[in-house]
Amino acid sequence: MEEKMKYDINMEKMPAHIAIIMDGNGRWAKARFLPRTAGHKAGVETIRKIVKEANRLGIKYLTLYAFSTENWKRPKLEVDALMNLLVTYLRGEVSELDKNNVKINVVGDYKKLPEACVNELEKAMNITGDNTGVNLNLALNYGGRNDIKNAVVEIAAMCRDGKLNPEDITEDIIKNHLSTAEIPDPDLVIRTSGEQRLSNFLLWDVAYSEFYYTDIHWPDFDEEELQKAVYSYQNRDRRFGGVK
Ligand code: IPE
Ligand code: IPE
Ligand code: MG
Repeated sequence: MEEKMKYDINMEKMPAHIAIIMDGNGRWAKARFLPRTAGHKAGVETIRKIVKEANRLGIKYLTLYAFSTENWKRPKLEVDALMNLLVTYLRGEVSELDKNNVKINVVGDYKKLPEACVNELEKAMNITGDNTGVNLNLALNYGGRNDIKNAVVEIAAMCRDGKLNPEDITEDIIKNHLSTAEIPDPDLVIRTSGEQRLSNFLLWDVAYSEFYYTDIHWPDFDEEELQKAVYSYQNRDRRFGGVK
């Protein structure tokens, strides 16, 4: 393990949850005079590498923003290509992920994805459900506002049915109704490709996350870049509103 470590990472201080906004596939492709879909294909290779590396580093939760509630605005051809890539990735990778003890989970309204995606995702969650390695959360048809909206709808229904008093609603109750209910808040959020915005990712959950931005496009992101982000995280002073 040691020879692959370029940054002086403290294995005792690993972030428990890293969330990544995988951005820049299109720009990576454009720079190479390739169609955007070629960038997405190359991006899948990065996912393979990063999941492995996260597992090796002992990261407990890795959340990957793969498709937002706003990404439906893209041309149908690109959306279809992304959905096909998801199916191909899951079909080709689940047994390997399972062997590596990776547990697959989905956040977002994934049931509104095409049927083939829903089937492969549910298969993947069933096969890997008992694994104890890295929890790989795929954010699909995910939007932070939509996730909060869904929680509000559920909680409002509980109040209507007399199961909960509005005065008794707590922050924990809200978190428990998000699709990220089982996932601790991210310690570190990474965004590739230079954009410094959330794009509707994990709004509720990132209240005290550390942010790391890099200009590198997602297809060029690699193990070393992940280590660099973790190293940066380990040198931050997290205060959570208190004093140190
Ligand atoms: C990220 O790359 C992948 C998805 C959003 C699915 P983009 O496709 O957003 O790439 P850019 O931002 O256009 O370069
Ligand atoms: C965010 O990237 C969504 C994903 C990475 C899946 P976008 O490329 O969609 O975000 P904007 O449009 O640049 O904000
Ligand atoms: Mg983008």
